[in-house]
Amino acid sequence: MSSVIFISSPINTFNTLSDSAGGVTGTAIRGELRVPGDKSISHRSVMLGAIAQGITEVSGFLQGEDNLATVDAFRAMGVDILQHSDTELTITGVGLHGLQAPRTTLDLGNSGTSIRLLSGLLAGQKFASVLTGDSSLQQRPMRRVTEPLAAMGAAIATADGGTPPLSIAASSGLRAIDYVMPVASAQVKSCLILAALYAEGVTRVTEPAPTRDHTERMLAGFGCPLGREGDTVVVDPRDIRLRACKVDVPADISSAAFFMVAASIVPGSDLLLRHVGVNPTRIGVINILKQMGADIEMGAVREIGGEPVADIRVRCAKLHGIDIPPEQVPLAIDEFPAIFIAAACAEGETVLTGAAELRVKESDRIQAMADGLIALGVDAVPTADGMVIRGGVRIGGGEVDSHGDHRIAMAFVMAGLVAEAPITIRDCGNVNTSFPDFITLARSAGVNVEAV
Ligand code: S3P
Repeated sequence: MSSVIFISSPINTFNTLSDSAGGVTGTAIRGELRVPGDKSISHRSVMLGAIAQGITEVSGFLQGEDNLATVDAFRAMGVDILQHSDTELTITGVGLHGLQAPRTTLDLGNSGTSIRLLSGLLAGQKFASVLTGDSSLQQRPMRRVTEPLAAMGAAIATADGGTPPLSIAASSGLRAIDYVMPVASAQVKSCLILAALYAEGVTRVTEPAPTRDHTERMLAGFGCPLGREGDTVVVDPRDIRLRACKVDVPADISSAAFFMVAASIVPGSDLLLRHVGVNPTRIGVINILKQMGADIEMGAVREIGGEPVADIRVRCAKLHGIDIPPEQVPLAIDEFPAIFIAAACAEGETVLTGAAELRVKESDRIQAMADGLIALGVDAVPTADGMVIRGGVRIGGGEVDSHGDHRIAMAFVMAGLVAEAPITIRDCGNVNTSFPDFITLARSAGVNVEAV
């Protein structure tokens, strides 16, 4: 049996330990669990609740650091947000034109979704604002939002290199655009949808491939359905008015993904993941793992608050390498760290292409994962837009650096379940950005994790 030691120290190091020399199997991952709420949907519930009229009640909210950064930003703009329990919030909406100028810079921490969506919302306000974040966020590309916003008439300055901080001038009015996005990005699409609520005329945003559509679905829940013409979202802001509603946030498929991989690779596993969001724009991880031979069943599929939800059963299965279909890439964009661990355990070669976006996430996820896998003895070759992994041989021990990226850290914890020797994972503090109770939940499923 291998065990995982999770060390929460000032340098945020996790250690994984293996106590079996040679052939290794982890503890079977069994039982039922519900991972925390969806990060993307939680952000949007606060943003739309803030600009709606009336009191929005949110349940299942993710108390991750990223979402709390969004909450803090809206509080700084005069929105009353009350927390009633770990997962329940109420937001007293101030209406489309009721936000107040923040007195200080809005610090969005590690959260790309907060800064990109807020840049669209704030581009339409009559007050100026400055948005920034931590050292990782300050390296992330923002021209993808500032350029189309400038075409709408916004004045936004970035640091050299097109990175945060973003200084947004008070708006003297935005105009609609017809925009074809060069990258498949739900953050860019959502940023422009929010800006379009404040623009004169009808905005059209065309995506090169389908991306998560939580903004569109939630706007419909707030009484503002958008138009759709093929790949194009149509926003007509005339007479627009958001009405407060109830938002039930499902469990985050991106957090569930780590456990899907864990249960797939550890013999004897049989895990039920409850109430997981299975929006078709997010289920690339299920499609890819199933193509690799995983035994994953979606049961009790239902629709809650405009989002499909299911209970997902995962049993251990023999995985094999595949060429990952390019159309699945945007649908699994956050799950590749976990998928790479599955690929390392799969017999044969897995090839990912068309995923250059992974290089500009919370870390360069292609390089960070390849470096870590190579350190553990896995045959992984990074490419400009993906990776080639020859898996199924062995995963050894060693030291890996998560580069402050929550998903890299959690992915390598799952590698610890089947590693032959201890793994030390550095710089893991940001797991709290998306999965505050990771250790407790992982332990409850049979992952031997300890905080020391
Ligand atoms: C998100 C969209 C994705 C994803 C991110 C959350 C969102 O980013 O990686 O974690 O909530 O809209 P891109 O749309 O830039 O790919």
